[in-house]
Amino acid sequence: MLHLPLERQLRQAVAAVLADADPALLRVRPCPDARFGDYQTNSLMGLARERKLNPRQLAADVVARLDVGEWSEPPEIAGAGFINFRLRPTAVARALQEALRGEHLFVQPAVTPRTVVVDFSSPNVAKPMHVGHIRSTILGDCLARTLRRLGHRVMTDNHLGDWGTQFGKLIVGWKRSLDAAALAQDAVGEMERLYQTVHAACETDAALLESARQELVRLQGGDAENLAIWRQMIDLSQHQFDTIYARLGVRFDHTLGESFYNPRLKTVVQELASRGIARESEGAMVVFFEDVPELKAHPAIIQKSDGAANYATTDLATLAYRLETWRPDEIVYVTDGRQQLHFKQIFAAFRRWQPQAHLQLAHVWFGSILGEDGKPFKTRSGGTVKLADLLDEAQERARRVVTEKAPALPEAERQEIARIVGLGAIKYSDLLPNRQSDYVFNWDKMLALSGNTAPYLQYAYTRIRSIFRKLPDSAPEAVHWLAQAQAQCPLAAAEELRLAKHLLNFGLVLEAVAQEYRPNYLCTYLYELAGHFTGFYETCPVLKAGEPERSSRLALCDLTARVLQDGLAVLGIETSERM
Ligand code: ARG
Repeated sequence: MLHLPLERQLRQAVAAVLADADPALLRVRPCPDARFGDYQTNSLMGLARERKLNPRQLAADVVARLDVGEWSEPPEIAGAGFINFRLRPTAVARALQEALRGEHLFVQPAVTPRTVVVDFSSPNVAKPMHVGHIRSTILGDCLARTLRRLGHRVMTDNHLGDWGTQFGKLIVGWKRSLDAAALAQDAVGEMERLYQTVHAACETDAALLESARQELVRLQGGDAENLAIWRQMIDLSQHQFDTIYARLGVRFDHTLGESFYNPRLKTVVQELASRGIARESEGAMVVFFEDVPELKAHPAIIQKSDGAANYATTDLATLAYRLETWRPDEIVYVTDGRQQLHFKQIFAAFRRWQPQAHLQLAHVWFGSILGEDGKPFKTRSGGTVKLADLLDEAQERARRVVTEKAPALPEAERQEIARIVGLGAIKYSDLLPNRQSDYVFNWDKMLALSGNTAPYLQYAYTRIRSIFRKLPDSAPEAVHWLAQAQAQCPLAAAEELRLAKHLLNFGLVLEAVAQEYRPNYLCTYLYELAGHFTGFYETCPVLKAGEPERSSRLALCDLTARVLQDGLAVLGIETSERM
């Protein structure tokens, strides 16, 4: 929070020295090394380089005009032209008091809210959601929550894979060997079985393959029977996806699957062709990227030689539709790393198609989830791990952890805590690593109550909440801590001040998450917060302290719990009052 007034004053001071400097380039950020201060700016060095000025001299000129005494000790010039700021405890206390009055929770809502579409999860109809979709779902949901928390307008859209050649085989299977009882039991499982059976049989049975092709042509031609089957497959799949989304607490503003764009595909191809962006090549319509070095060897087919559109055509139509309908400033796509080339092509083709569009496009990609053996995560028997089973197992394992920890809690409460802890563990272990690296799925690690895990943070939260349950609020000697802390908040101990300063950076971290699409920054922040809290709680008595320390420390406890809870909520993770 307090980087904001510092940044504002910095901009003023620089304007007095260099009237035409771009204020947007002047930033104050946390010091990477706390020994040098709390905040720092390195912006002057770039400015000096640009203008061939001596950077330390420029820093000195700026510092001479820098009026920050309200928040900071006298700023110091360091190294090649950094300016370091050390916060005054009184300023930190004031920010805490604002938070206690409910003015903010260390987050400054965006001054100019943006409209952002987040395209995530997007599983395929008639196929179970697997662990690959879990990352997209968890990551996409977290990014949507982060952007919303910062005050942006967010539109989440589930781009279901509900169209494609697989429906030929699926319809053949449906017509010839549907097991109604199995369908009623586990619809997606049955559809998967149908597909796999027909797919395998087609390897050797040319007539069957031909029937699948014909069923597909019929579906594409609008045959009523095939359309009805196809719709039923979508409904059944959607129902199963929805059960998972409900468990994960994920919701979508829109679910516009690939088929929604079918009526628009021809126009896209025609438009790109008429503008010379796509051209015919061996019967197909192709976009060549001669001007983009990394795509030079990778032209994008937008219409196959048999006249059919594909994934790329659909994505271009989708992009255009979203732009027209929602006028977003930004669209974020969350998928695994294997789709990098696809999105590079889509973005490049779109830029040529609509060069005037002011639209930020981001492909937020992620690595794979691996098993202990370092190979793609599979069940013991080698099958793909289904998301529903994974969530069941997480809850079951968490139940054992909770039972061991708190055997006295009533069964129903233990179940509920297990749900919160189990889901939290899965989500956190997915959000914690750098999203672009693969990570090894490990139950024991993710459910551990110590270390950088969700249960550890959830437990830290309950520990703080338990302090408040011990509060004798009716005892005559107990002044009301909130009123007292709002009036006076001494932060005399080093551990108190360190914790308080860390709280101030919550909003900054959220901004970094939104900017770089990296929830792991928030995980690290919360883990450090819990660590600073422990340091504080081990050295500073709270309930046994005299006033005004007691109230001020209770305030620190309360704000820490609130930031922990809010931060976990941004990660899509719930908290419980007891554990
Ligand atoms: N259905 C695709 C898959 O499972 C993901 C779709 C991602 N979104 C998009 N607009 N292409 O791989």
